[in-house]
Amino acid sequence: MSYEYERVATPANGLRLHLNENTAGCSPAVIEAIRALTREQIAEYPDYDAVNEATAARLSIAVDSLLLTNGLDEGILVAAMVALRATGGDAEGIVIVPAFDMYAACTDALGGRVIQVPLGNDFAFPIEGVIDAITPRTRIVWLTNPNNPTGQSIPREAIVRVATAASRAMVFVDEAYADFGGRTLIGDALLRQQPNIIVGRTFAKAYGLAGIRAGAVIGNSATIASLRRVIPPYGLNVCAASALPPAFRDRAYYDWYVDQVAQSRETLYAGFERLGVRYWKSDANFVLAKFEGRGRAIASALAARGVHVRDRSNDPGCENCLRITAGVVQHTRQFLTALEAVL
Ligand SMILES: Cc1ncc(COP(=O)(O)O)c(C=O)c1O
Repeated sequence: MSYEYERVATPANGLRLHLNENTAGCSPAVIEAIRALTREQIAEYPDYDAVNEATAARLSIAVDSLLLTNGLDEGILVAAMVALRATGGDAEGIVIVPAFDMYAACTDALGGRVIQVPLGNDFAFPIEGVIDAITPRTRIVWLTNPNNPTGQSIPREAIVRVATAASRAMVFVDEAYADFGGRTLIGDALLRQQPNIIVGRTFAKAYGLAGIRAGAVIGNSATIASLRRVIPPYGLNVCAASALPPAFRDRAYYDWYVDQVAQSRETLYAGFERLGVRYWKSDANFVLAKFEGRGRAIASALAARGVHVRDRSNDPGCENCLRITAGVVQHTRQFLTALEAVL
């Protein structure tokens, strides 16, 4: 079996609620910074000191615990490279499914065997299943907190158990959605106690920078140094390097957007309850809902009305489940109006 990232069609217009993007657009301060770039800056290899310092300050960490990446996707790839290279062909990577495609794709591409552990009832984190799957061949365990596509968080004690049981493996805790309510490990003593844990973050979601491509991995300085050795030296382009400091300074935008997402989740829950649709509470910027027997048909009918959601029916345990981005409240209301008409 081979694994790859499932690319979805990019709609030419309409309401994009299918890729967990920021539906507001980035802070205007980012656009100003990009407009201010000079011809010389575009012609030169970027210097990263200012952006490294601004990001470390925003996350309250030391600069040597941080590696900026070309989107978190690059962080995932580089973690897989470090964990799986030179392992003699018997390396394993544990993926708890359903999961973000990149973990299995990168594990597989680097010659690792993908060991899948299904989530439990109601998508509960399958701690015993993960512990049972750990073997001396385990080189990397992929955790997503909160999870995509379910939106559920992993209890801290479960992460501690996994990191302890897999102490010779890398434990990658993908916190792509932690801005929206998940509990972060950044600043947690666990990162010092367990140098095998690496945290991944993205600036695509809460800061609205998906198109610019900017992410980060955070961890023990020695572990981060091992990643720095293999990552391309200029992966972060000059637009991303210039965008992050003003994005961090615009706290009002960030707080406003995170609040919009929280309100949108509540609006979705209320709408689903009113319409008798099953859903799962989420700590992320999306909500998973189940449309018994007609998930695909509803996704198509919504698309015909210009509202794009993600059909997750092909993911294990997600038949007839649609994932809907929770962004600006007005967009969420538009979605609910369309859904009501379709139902
Ligand atoms: C769980 C998870 N990790 C990583 C990413 C990739 O983030 P980036 O856009 O920064 O590459 C995504 C994107 O949707 C995601 O859902």
